[in-house]
Amino acid sequence: MIGSSIFLSLQISWAQQTQKQLDKIIKKWAAPDEFPDHIILSATADPTQSIGVNWRTHANNTVGYLEIGIAGPGPEFRINTKAYPAKRTLINSAEASKDGFKSSFFEVQLNGLKPNTLYAYRVGNDNFKSEWHQFSTASNQSTPLSFLYVGDAQNYILELWSRVIRNAYKKAPNADFFIHAGDLIDTAHDESEWNEWFAAGGFIHSEIPAIAVPGNHEYRGLNANRPRDKPELSIQWDAQFGFPKNGPQELHKTCYYIDYPNLRVIALNSNRAIKLQAQWLKKVLEENNKKWTVVTFHHPIFSASTGRDNPELRKYWKPLFDQYNVDLALQGHDHSYARGAIFENPIVVNRSDQNKELMGPVYVVSVSGGKMYSVNESGWDKFGAVQEKNGERKQLFQHISIDGDQLIYRSFTATGELFDRFELLKQNGKNQYID
Ligand SMILES: [Fe+2]
Repeated sequence: MIGSSIFLSLQISWAQQTQKQLDKIIKKWAAPDEFPDHIILSATADPTQSIGVNWRTHANNTVGYLEIGIAGPGPEFRINTKAYPAKRTLINSAEASKDGFKSSFFEVQLNGLKPNTLYAYRVGNDNFKSEWHQFSTASNQSTPLSFLYVGDAQNYILELWSRVIRNAYKKAPNADFFIHAGDLIDTAHDESEWNEWFAAGGFIHSEIPAIAVPGNHEYRGLNANRPRDKPELSIQWDAQFGFPKNGPQELHKTCYYIDYPNLRVIALNSNRAIKLQAQWLKKVLEENNKKWTVVTFHHPIFSASTGRDNPELRKYWKPLFDQYNVDLALQGHDHSYARGAIFENPIVVNRSDQNKELMGPVYVVSVSGGKMYSVNESGWDKFGAVQEKNGERKQLFQHISIDGDQLIYRSFTATGELFDRFELLKQNGKNQYID
């Protein structure tokens, strides 16, 4: 008996030692060094002439800058580049994260760029620089545009989400931007999870501008030992993304809008200040003169899985989506897939009728990471909404293209097969839904 308890405690101590070793290795892997990493483009309020660029190095680097020029076929483009100093923010995540440390985050907001132009840029300092990355500014004409959208990456990020974001890029390498609808990672301040997110996306993050909103998992107490105390936005968020600051001040970079010539994208923070955002949203929708309007936020208006209802969003945000003809609501959180809408005749839906008229936006809940919940097929009925397509246990990404009066939505599996599709045809400001 005594022998077996000694054996057990030896086993526990061995397991603890092994875990400590593993934690040390993971922390080392997640840590920044002299070379810039986590390089990411963020969409700004006016992507025809502006873009945000952020990156990270170890804390000893106090100076960083970005060089940029118009990309050319040969290396000579480097002769005509300009350098811009970066704003540096020192972040110490040691208290908030089990694998935390100090790092320098750098940000440059580029303005005055030419529309529809391919630029090359690199970031760093005199000694250590990134490779040259390329991106295109948006066109200032109402030309066709397309973008990618994913739900929660959150879990098994490097292990399983990597194949989704890479397949999305293969399907639409010229996408104008990439929407991440919250819960990008699982543990708000965790450095190794953010490092997984950046490693999975690699140069995709550095070449297609991101639009991201925080999910509930981007909020957590700043004391790693007491994570449920006073949840705060991921300590890295503000320093690692360059999103617009045109939303309510206390929600900077988590609630904002972005204007393309024929599209307004509105990013909302479904974790905080729902009523306050409704006031802001009303104004932003009222003055919106774009042909198309897409909203994105984390918690769904109509939940795709059981026990996850969000009545406050339905009360304060949905009436505004309806009143101002929002076209698409792109959401996450439920770890399953559901796509549908409220139709003008919600009781009798004739599936052979190819031109159903919508009341309000088409709603999508989707998931891209490896954590899966089952779908609640009848969950939308009591709100008069119809799930036109649902699914579970599938990692998905979505590609949406807009060309004049037509919007084509397609959802793909991690292995690249078409999973869901519909079209909207906008005539006289009203959408026809084409299955
Ligand atoms: Fe979530």
